[in-house]
Amino acid sequence: MKIAILPGDGIGPEITAQAVKVLNALGERFEMDTAEVGGAGYAAHGHPLPDSTLKLAKDADAVLFGAVGDYKYDGLERALRPEQAILGLRRELGLFANLRPAILYPELAGASTLKPEVVSGLDILIIRELTGDIYFGKPRGVRECPDGPFKGQREGFDTMRYAEGEIRRIAHVAFQAALKRDKRVTSVDKANVLETGQFWRDIVTDVHKEYAGVELDHMYVDNAAMQLVRAPKKFDVLVTGNMFGDILSDAAAMLTGSIGMLPSASLDANNKGLYEPSHGSAPDIAGQGVANPLATILSAAMMLRFTFGLTEQADRIDNAVKRVLAQGLRTPDIHEAGSTRVGTEEMGNAVVAALG
Ligand code: IPM
Ligand code: MN
Repeated sequence: MKIAILPGDGIGPEITAQAVKVLNALGERFEMDTAEVGGAGYAAHGHPLPDSTLKLAKDADAVLFGAVGDYKYDGLERALRPEQAILGLRRELGLFANLRPAILYPELAGASTLKPEVVSGLDILIIRELTGDIYFGKPRGVRECPDGPFKGQREGFDTMRYAEGEIRRIAHVAFQAALKRDKRVTSVDKANVLETGQFWRDIVTDVHKEYAGVELDHMYVDNAAMQLVRAPKKFDVLVTGNMFGDILSDAAAMLTGSIGMLPSASLDANNKGLYEPSHGSAPDIAGQGVANPLATILSAAMMLRFTFGLTEQADRIDNAVKRVLAQGLRTPDIHEAGSTRVGTEEMGNAVVAALG
């Protein structure tokens, strides 16, 4: 069981260290190697995804990823910016299925910006396609505008595209996931405007024929954004493309009060995966020992579940997290009156102690 540890930038190293500590406490034999990625990759090797880091990730069964990005790299050309590391890993490792659960722990119901009755008991799973869409579509660039009222000026352009096989495989992931949950899938597109959207809808509808036990409905992305904040509990599994999934998953994350709680998995066709917190590198609080490590710890649990099939160990971590929340321990992002404020390291230690 080989794990590549890629801590990255900002709070990345602090939070990954806690997840590594938890993994080490389980009594399994993991082989873990660490490499620089993102701004740290650029600083050490001149590239956000150095060849040595990519090789380590390719050779591993799973990747535990912290976060990348820092203001100090904002001036770099796009190809060298920290974000390219995560995009490159997704592309190079074929990680097409992004699972982003949004679960509200009852103890944190007060931390949401929405009324408790709207969000309490929330348990939805956003499945975002990760290797297609406008993120990777070509052609793209800046050119001379060929027609219309702005003909002759410069224009920026990107290409939204989805191949049939790309839509089929993510649809299967969604229906399979729904079979293990409430058996409902909402597919989100913009079929009223975009060719890609109508095509997406047609293919998902076709794949659905193989899943008689799952209910499918379709929603336009604008409506989905509204329903997510109006009545989020109505969703079970939501499946959508790369760009819409990026946006909707951030909105869904915030329903739970803190994006600091949410893990994610990016899987290939063989359950190799990259596991990372849904949040970013938070350079403003880096190095202060206050970042919430729970999203990363829960990401490690997802790794045990999906890549290594260690269900019991994954449950141990999930339950330990519930226990520390029940004990009232809170990092500043989820702190409320009456709870006990702890730092990154203390939170990690508490999870280890609660593993049982
Ligand atoms: C995410 C991030 C990335 C994305 C960025 C950092 C490239 O926002 O994982 O959601 O847009 O996919
Ligand atoms: Mn995002």
